Amino acid sequence: MSSSALEFARQNHPRFLEELKAFLRIPSISTLAEHQADCRAAAQMLVSELRRIGMENVSMIETKGHPLVYADWLHAEGMPTALVYGHYDVQPPDPLEEWITPPFEPTERNGNIYARGAVDDKGQVWAQVKALEAHLAANGRLPINIRILMEGEEEVGGEAIEAYVASRPDQLQADFALVSDTELFAPDLPTLCVGLRGMIYTEIEVRGARTDLHSGMYGGVAPNPFVALAQIISRLKDENGHILIPGFYDDLIPPSAEELEAWRNLPFDEEQYRTSEVGSRQLTGEKGYSVLERTWARPSLDVHGMPGGFIGAGAKTVIPAKAMAKVSMRLAPGMTPQKSFAQFKSYVQQIAPSDVDIDVRLIHAGNPCLVPVDNPYIRAATRALQQVWGRPTVFIRSGGSIPIVGDFAEHLGIPSVMMGFGLPDDNLHAPNEKFNLKNYELGIASLIRFLEEAAH
Ligand code: BES
Ligand code: MN
Ligand code: MN
Repeated sequence: MSSSALEFARQNHPRFLEELKAFLRIPSISTLAEHQADCRAAAQMLVSELRRIGMENVSMIETKGHPLVYADWLHAEGMPTALVYGHYDVQPPDPLEEWITPPFEPTERNGNIYARGAVDDKGQVWAQVKALEAHLAANGRLPINIRILMEGEEEVGGEAIEAYVASRPDQLQADFALVSDTELFAPDLPTLCVGLRGMIYTEIEVRGARTDLHSGMYGGVAPNPFVALAQIISRLKDENGHILIPGFYDDLIPPSAEELEAWRNLPFDEEQYRTSEVGSRQLTGEKGYSVLERTWARPSLDVHGMPGGFIGAGAKTVIPAKAMAKVSMRLAPGMTPQKSFAQFKSYVQQIAPSDVDIDVRLIHAGNPCLVPVDNPYIRAATRALQQVWGRPTVFIRSGGSIPIVGDFAEHLGIPSVMMGFGLPDDNLHAPNEKFNLKNYELGIASLIRFLEEAAH
């Protein structure tokens, strides 16, 4: 491994870490209106840093929501162009009392840095920026052409970036996208993610009586929206975990026999996964499919919350006039958000009890994706990972969603190299989110090497 960029990164690692901490101190929570200025501040920090390291045409792109950040460096004549993507927004940190150290006070502890956004995705975004800095500082140039497009709404569906990518395909012309927002299958196991599930996030609103009613005076005659929701929800899946929405599985593209065989060879211990990662009495889901198939290649359906009624301490005897359920579905490759939502909505309307009114709303949606692996960029990525981690790369999928990856394929016609460095126990979206410090360092090195290998 020759690279002077690697040497630069090694020497500057302490600074790289301090900078990441500063980035993590900004509470850029995209879903909470009161953090709008913080989202802008995180975007601004990226803009300043990209300018400082020598990227060109650095700009903050205003949208209806949080701003996008764009930059490029296009002087590697004859070389491919990468579109580097990541997101600077984070999930809300609650429940706060479960954090060992506060979510926006990044803290080093047993080889990790703990903070909201540490791994999803600010730590990985910063690793991308640092890989670019290392090349520019050590060599005065980049091995390939780079465009950067970062967003601040990934965690809320990524509407603005989708509109931007769809409307300006020419300005984003690239040969592939480089996405660092995924994880290694296991510690020290270099991994590329080649498939993601899509999703639809919905709300079912149910209305019964005109107003909240005394449950003694009206119990027995007034419809109860929670009971109606319970009846609806209980008919969404059968006791074998199969989703009952008619036609839901029709367009699903099953994984190939080779892919399934490769998954069987991954180091996966279901019992350990159940006890230490999930921590439940049993695993649930469709009979006849492995855990990896269930989370990567099959759709799923979950209820996230049921706002409404009385949830305070103690008792209140009321029949609520309305109630809601937040229900999302992960879509396997082949399925489309539009069609799946239409199927869901008409099924819910059909099974809803007749004594209530219901509305079924789509909050946000994202396409699933499958990345073709037969291209020079994926091959370059495996060479780079081999050099840094000293082991062959495994190809996995993930059950999570990154809506823009499907849009890159659709609107720009490019594959994505999903090279991410999280770990399965990094507590994404949960209390005590962390990023392993070694993965931060080797992640930067992997990205540095990848840019060099992609130039071949
Ligand atoms: N980085 C995650 C997705 C992810 C998680 C990929 C784990 C691979 C492994 C991303 O930030 C995320 O959380 N996406 C949301 C998207 C949704 C809000 C549209 C998700 O999956 O819930
Ligand atoms: Mn993410
Ligand atoms: Mn996320």
